[in-house]
Amino acid sequence: MKFFIDTANADEIKKAKEWGILDGVTTNPSLIAKEGVDHKTRVMEIVNIVGDLPVSAECVETDYDKLLAEAKDIASWAPNIYVKVPMTPTSMEVVKELSPNGVNFNVTLIFSLPQALLAAKAGASFISFFVGRIDDMGSGEAAQNISDAVEMVETYEFPKNPEILVASIRGPLQVVESIRSGAHIATIPYKIMEQLFHHPLTDIGIKKFYDDYLKATGKTA
Ligand code: E4P
Repeated sequence: MKFFIDTANADEIKKAKEWGILDGVTTNPSLIAKEGVDHKTRVMEIVNIVGDLPVSAECVETDYDKLLAEAKDIASWAPNIYVKVPMTPTSMEVVKELSPNGVNFNVTLIFSLPQALLAAKAGASFISFFVGRIDDMGSGEAAQNISDAVEMVETYEFPKNPEILVASIRGPLQVVESIRSGAHIATIPYKIMEQLFHHPLTDIGIKKFYDDYLKATGKTA
């Protein structure tokens, strides 16, 4: 499973890259707004940090002509940009129009299997399932949705061999569910990525090995 970082913060992206675990970056208008920076400027900074890893940048227009122009523009910023569009009929028209010409789309705000099917058929490269927002509603369907969507894209043929991307992750348990459900990608906020490194038994084990080393060698800490 690929690990993307879900942030528009340059320092967080640099850190995740240093850890050697980074496969891509997802942003959205809310994450960019939190940083208080210009959209294109920040996306280009991110591209400079991650090189040719996929970087998702989101459109905000809703009218067909404006969305088509915005998607074309965002796609022109760098070859590794994945243009994010929400699941709407208009967005799918734009995906259908541009994806055969080499534009990669990340269809976002997906909450159901039929929505994932529509995105796949239109020509999405990534399909972003929002598990946190589903789990927030207490429906308990998120994990099942991911495994059904993975099975769907692996059973049928679609224009772009889409990958199921688990988004809106709120904690390590949803990362575990993503792995168990066979998701192709999980996009994870920095704080949660950090948490994944830790286990109390790892800390206890490190301390014991170090203490035993000091005892055996007579060295002091
Ligand atoms: C990423 O592509 C999504 O936009 C993001 O994971 C949404 O997360 P949220 O539900 O925490 O806003």
